[in-house]
Amino acid sequence: MTMVRVDLRRQFEDAGSRADPSPVYAGLRDLGSVLRSKDILGGGFLLPRYEEVSQVIKDPRFASDRRNVGRRSLDQWWTPGMLRLLLSSMVLKDPPEHRRLRNLVQKAFTPCRVAKLAGRVEEITDELLDAAAAKPVIELVGDLALPLPLTVIAEMLGVPPADRIRFRTLFASIQSNSQTTAVSLARNYRRMRELTTFLQELVRLRRDQPGDDLLSDLVHVEEGGDRLDDDELISMVFLLLFAGHETTVNLIGNGVLELVRRPDQLRKLRDDPGLIDTAIEEMLRFINPVGFVAPRFAKEDVEIAGTPIRRGSMVTLLIASANLDETVFPDADTLDITRSPNRHVSFGLGTHFCLGAPLARLEARIAVPALLRRFDHLELAVPADQLPWRRHIALRGVERLPLVVTPAGASASRRTA
Ligand code: HEM
Repeated sequence: MTMVRVDLRRQFEDAGSRADPSPVYAGLRDLGSVLRSKDILGGGFLLPRYEEVSQVIKDPRFASDRRNVGRRSLDQWWTPGMLRLLLSSMVLKDPPEHRRLRNLVQKAFTPCRVAKLAGRVEEITDELLDAAAAKPVIELVGDLALPLPLTVIAEMLGVPPADRIRFRTLFASIQSNSQTTAVSLARNYRRMRELTTFLQELVRLRRDQPGDDLLSDLVHVEEGGDRLDDDELISMVFLLLFAGHETTVNLIGNGVLELVRRPDQLRKLRDDPGLIDTAIEEMLRFINPVGFVAPRFAKEDVEIAGTPIRRGSMVTLLIASANLDETVFPDADTLDITRSPNRHVSFGLGTHFCLGAPLARLEARIAVPALLRRFDHLELAVPADQLPWRRHIALRGVERLPLVVTPAGASASRRTA
């Protein structure tokens, strides 16, 4: 059987496709259910449609750990230590190893603990908006979308107040120079090493002086006599930082951009703030903060939509494309903040379903309405086609979002003056 070969990296080379990937994904879905991918981490198969993505992601015949299908581990003797820590994180593991790690962290990462953060997330949001509101043009990513999740995670981890600026600067410098690919992380070797040392010191501190924070919980968590060793702890913190930060930045940044570009949807949300839950779910579906999940590997010979997939083959699941599949989402290319049901797969599904989904949702549910309450009017300060987008193959994010704003009440006071 001949199969279409797709070079995903090429597809997103031009700025237009990064700004609006939906024609690329539509083209891929038109090509078929199972495509051959040319270059992603050594080639394999590419699944662009909802049906196959949502099945394979939950299919126990596929592994997330390449070693379980006889592939060489990416972790070699020459792999830098902190990269090794990232490669050993639970997102790249299978049960029972994965279950063990997830159980240990889940205990400390309960929805109840996340819900308790609401008040603090509101305070941080207000402080950031106070600082931004003094300007006639705000830059939504730098002023709100980026610092909000970073401050929240720093506080959750129990970074002492005196060290927070150092932590934020260190982490933000890694983020802005690169993203999460192995090559780009290696390039940031020195900064990553500093971050590792910083976190190791923090672990020591929280071991000696536990506080009411996630890291203290992780340090002391025990499940049936089992606990995380120091490397597992740092690996877990790295995963929380890298899986959780830029994704949330993109949810808020891209989400606000799409609202601002659609005044009818923006007006609807202003008129009925109760729509925020469906609005956030629709943003997650439509703006696709994550293009594809960690690769899966066939543990045995399987067939997907009639295509034989040999044991050991790598499969890339395009969750962003699945979210735009017309067969599941009517008018998939339209942002509809009232859409319900909305079975998007932006947080994945099954074993590796996003651990931080409640936190990401909480932050977006607080940040977006706070922004709308603070400003009566929001408008792009530059034409949409001039906005810069991150060059990242898996994550989609607007890099800067300048907005001309009118503070709440200012237009009324101008009218009465
Ligand atoms: C809009 C924001 C976010 C999106 C779109 C997102 C998306 C995802 C996706 C698609 C996966 C599944 C990966 C796979 O199947 O290979 C995942 C896993 C994960 N996410 Fe998120 N995420 C977000 C925010 C967060 C946050 C805030 C945190 C924590 C602070 C977090 C922590 C994790 C962890 C630890 C995993 C691995 C779970 C496991 O392997 O069992 N994520 N995320």
